[in-house]
Formats: sequence, C-alpha cells, structure tokens
Amino acid sequence: MKGLVLSGGKGTRLRPITYTSAKQLVPVGNKPVLFRVIEAIRDAGIGDIGIVIGDTGDEIRAAVGNGRRWGVQITYIEQDAPLGLAHAVKISHDFIGDDRFVMFLGDNCIQGGISPLIQQFGHSDFNAQVVLKQVADPRSFGVAELDENGRIERLVEKPRDPQSDLALVGVYMFDHHIFEAVHSITPSLRGELEITDAIQWLITSGYQVFPYIHDGWWIDTGKKDDMLEANRLVLEEMQPVVHGYVDRDSNLIGKVIVEAGAEIINSTIRGPAIIGEQTRILNAYVGPFTSIYHHCLIEDSEVEHSIVLEHSTIRGMPARIEDSLIGRNVTVTRSPLKPKAYRLLIGDNSTVGVL
Ligand code: DAU
Repeated sequence: MKGLVLSGGKGTRLRPITYTSAKQLVPVGNKPVLFRVIEAIRDAGIGDIGIVIGDTGDEIRAAVGNGRRWGVQITYIEQDAPLGLAHAVKISHDFIGDDRFVMFLGDNCIQGGISPLIQQFGHSDFNAQVVLKQVADPRSFGVAELDENGRIERLVEKPRDPQSDLALVGVYMFDHHIFEAVHSITPSLRGELEITDAIQWLITSGYQVFPYIHDGWWIDTGKKDDMLEANRLVLEEMQPVVHGYVDRDSNLIGKVIVEAGAEIINSTIRGPAIIGEQTRILNAYVGPFTSIYHHCLIEDSEVEHSIVLEHSTIRGMPARIEDSLIGRNVTVTRSPLKPKAYRLLIGDNSTVGVL
C-alpha cells in the first residue's frame, strides 16, 4: 500500500497565520500536524508516501525533506491550484499506479493512529473504505448515511440539513477504481472536484464501499479553536519529561514537558503543557493546555490554553493571555505608560481582544 497526504489548499480559515505559512505546519503539542500524519502512516507500516503540495509547497518541502527522518520515502506532487480533493487524487495517478492506498488530509489529527483501519482494508477486497465519526454538528463536513446493514448508502458534502451525524474523517482508503471515479465527476457548486462525489460515484456504480467508525477523538484543524482543541487533546496524552533546565525557584505541576535547551526561571508551569527547545520562561506562569514552541521568551506574563509559535516573545503583560494562537516572530508586550494607548502592528484578518 501507498500513502497520499493532501497538503495543498488555501487555509483561509486560519488567516493571518496562513498568509505566510502552511496550515498543516502549525504545531500541536509542539509537533506540526503534518508530521503527526506522516508518523501515523509510517506506524501503519507504509513507507512510500506522496504529498500533494500547492502554494506553500516550498515551505513543506523544507520542513519535511525526503522523509529519511521518519524512515519513509516522500514524493512531492504539485497541484497548480486547489481544485478539490478528488483533483488531488487525479494528479497523483502516476505516483499511486495500481496500488491500494490510504489518503490522509494533512490538516487532520486522529487519536490512536490508523494501523487498525489499514489492517482491515489491507485484508479485505473492499474497493474503498471511509473513516466516519459521530459528531454533534456535521454541517461543516462530508456526511454519510448508512443503510440497515451498516453499508454506506449516500454521501453528501457539507449538507445544510444533515440526515445523519456521521462525518467523513479526513482518512480514506481506495483501490485503483477511484481513478475512474475522479474522472467521471464534475465540479461542485464551490468549484471543487469533491472526493465525496467520487466516492458516491463508486457506490452508485456498484463498487464495494464500507465505513470504518472511529471511536477516538478526531479534529479537523482548520480554525483557531480547533487547533487549540487538538493541542489540548494531544497534550493530555503526552508523558511528562524534563530535558531542559528548571531552577530551584520554579514549580512544575502536573504533566509538563520541558524540551532540550529550554530554561524555566522563577516560574510556574501547570500542565499539561510543553515548553520548546531553547525557549525561556522567566518570572512567568504557563497554565494548562499550552504549547510554547522553540526559541520563545515568556517573561513577566501569564499564558494559558494557547499555542505560541517559534521565535515569539510575550513580555510584561498586565493580564493573562488565554485561548490564543500566536504566530511566528511575534512580540506581545506592554506599551510605554504614557501617553496611555494601545500600539499595534497587526496583519490582515487578525483578531485582538483587549481588556
Ligand atoms: O476534514 C474532513 C473534511 O475534509 C471532510 O469531512 C470533507 O468531506 C472533505 O471535503 C474535507 O473538507 P474541508 O473543507 O475541511 O477540506 P479542506 O479544503 O480543508 O482540505 C483538506 C486538506 O486537503 C487540507 O490539508 C488542504 C488539502 N487540499 C485541499 C484542496 C481543496 C489539497 O491538497 N488540495 C485541494 O485542492
């Protein structure tokens, strides 16, 4: 089997972070979501992985490289424009050939990996298998309706009035018949070749399409609050370990990970939380569900339930920072006391909440 990871697309829901960066490279628990996807495929025993890339391709190539770090071989497949998930499959035909494959959306985080489902599909003669998860509000996903025998009867992309609560998780397994399907469908109202329509085409054409109901958690990390939720879930599963330096005036409470070269000085970290390599926490408080990435400085400030990306500084904040996603090379600090004013240099589509 081969692996196909989709890492193109626009990432509009995560602006302004995605003006300068691929959404799949935003870290949860200090590891980019895309790296977690590659590891899940590798852990399921698949070593030949194609990654579909778009505008942010250079950044993804630079971050992922040839895959040797994970013991896998990566092939990059360039998509000229984000014309849909089924379009991404279409352009990957040369890479996939006649193999069976798993397609994994590069912005999805799934608990427990994908080994059980790969095993089930690998030992079956199904033409396709799609991972489903019960969700409270399925309207922003593909939705599956099952018949009384538990087979998939109908799939609808982002229905306004869903007939089931089973969402399509961004993990799909296919044999070569999917290439017939992606050539047979036409673009949807949003102008994309939908993988949901391609799978519906398989069903209508009499191919064997089965569901795999996923029990654990699953997050599509398209928006800020979903990133924070994925970060919370991942941190809860990590084991505490201290590789960096913690001085005697500091306090680590609960599950805390201090990565190599990090320094915690006169500070309290209440886990679950992770402090990245070469980051300094000075006279500060870092609260639960917080990931501070590498080369950051948190000084005289309090941060909780947040993700801070690399090379950023938070200094002298008079109130706690919460529920925040802070980008790369950002400085958040107090204005000089007089004249009393907010002084901001903020990119397009940013959100700032003041006291
Ligand atoms: O996350 C699960 C959902 O993913 C499913 O429930 C939906 O049925 C499915 O259509 C998809 O919906 P999204 O609207 O969330 O897809 P998004 O545009 O976010 O793209 C998913 C990933 O695929 C993302 O990493 C970007 C990449 N992509 C997307 C498009 C449209 C590509 O590589 N090429 C593309 O043309």
